[in-house]
Amino acid sequence: MEYLRLNNSDLTVSRFCMGGCPMGGFDWGETNQQDFIRAIHTALAEGVTFFDTADTYGLGQSERTLAKGLGNHRKDVVIQTKFGVRVGNGKTIIDNSPTWIREALDRSLKRLNTDYIDLYVVHYWDKVTPPEEIVAELERQKAAGKIRYFGLSNVRTSELPQCVPYKGQFVTAQHEFSLCCRRREGELRQMEEEMDTTPMTWGSLGQGVLTGKYNENVSFPENDRRRREVYINFHGEKLRQNLRIVETLKKIAANHNVSCAAVAIRFIMDYLPTAIPITGIKSAEQMKDNLKSMDWHLSPEELCLLNNVSLEGEQESEENILWQKAF
Ligand SMILES: NC(=O)c1ccc[n+]([C@@H]2O[C@H](COP(=O)([O-])OP(=O)(O)OC[C@H]3O[C@@H](n4cnc5c(N)ncnc54)[C@H](OP(=O)(O)O)[C@@H]3O)[C@@H](O)[C@H]2O)c1
Repeated sequence: MEYLRLNNSDLTVSRFCMGGCPMGGFDWGETNQQDFIRAIHTALAEGVTFFDTADTYGLGQSERTLAKGLGNHRKDVVIQTKFGVRVGNGKTIIDNSPTWIREALDRSLKRLNTDYIDLYVVHYWDKVTPPEEIVAELERQKAAGKIRYFGLSNVRTSELPQCVPYKGQFVTAQHEFSLCCRRREGELRQMEEEMDTTPMTWGSLGQGVLTGKYNENVSFPENDRRRREVYINFHGEKLRQNLRIVETLKKIAANHNVSCAAVAIRFIMDYLPTAIPITGIKSAEQMKDNLKSMDWHLSPEELCLLNNVSLEGEQESEENILWQKAF
């Protein structure tokens, strides 16, 4: 396992973070809590110490399952959870107000069965709450011992100037990034430069398309979000481009005797040497497979080949605009 110290903190974590979105058990196809728990046990046995979740994943179910899976290993790991996506009365709003931070935090602590959260992350910038109020509330919760540190997620370039005065106070910043999603790369790099945050990537496997198990005829059941066109990686020309990336992944995977998923994760680690990939996982088998990304490197030629095939699909497409509008 590779480990890395998070900027602006005394937290050292595995350079592999288990993603908890599928663990919410909602809109990711058929899932089973026992499978997630086995995946968490495998992660712990293999040295994974970093877990990402959010209050909104399965409306709290992901946090509950994580707590159950960790059991008495709570103190051995770093939990990162997010707040601000507030669901109620049939509506979803982004709310980073101090009142909601306090309420959301207490609910997350309860579901996670813990008295502190290592990293409490602003899921989206709400464009309403003054940044100084968000930071002051997070600092108050830190002083109270309910959180150890805080982080950012999905901060757009236009929102960055509001964050910059708090440089050094935020620890991580996550953006979508993978071989099939490069449109946030500038923001990911900018955050690190201007905020000194440790970059983290979500959608590291393109929601699964980079694992090589899907083809042009892929179709998902009603209860799987990837069925919807907004999940552009599985639709139209973007899917065809992704399958071209997969062809390159397969060749490189064979050279190293690992899976496409492991190479896709390794690409992130070698291309962005200070970043930590977050990977959504549904089973112990997927966990073992993805951990084969650790402790080796792509050759410069392989890195270059992957980067080139990845960039071929990055023109500003209609689908990209559709996706951006969803946020
Ligand atoms: N900050 C944010 O706004 C934000 C947004 C989204 C996600 N995230 C975080 O980032 C994490 C990662 O993103 P993600 O979960 O959306 O997508 P992802 O990591 O790109 O893809 C995860 C999916 O890939 C498939 N998979 C994983 N490993 C596999 C393997 N070895 N072999 C075959 N299939 C495999 C699984 O689905 P199937 O088996 O069904 O194909 C899994 O659910 C999330 O879980 C969440 O913690 C954060």
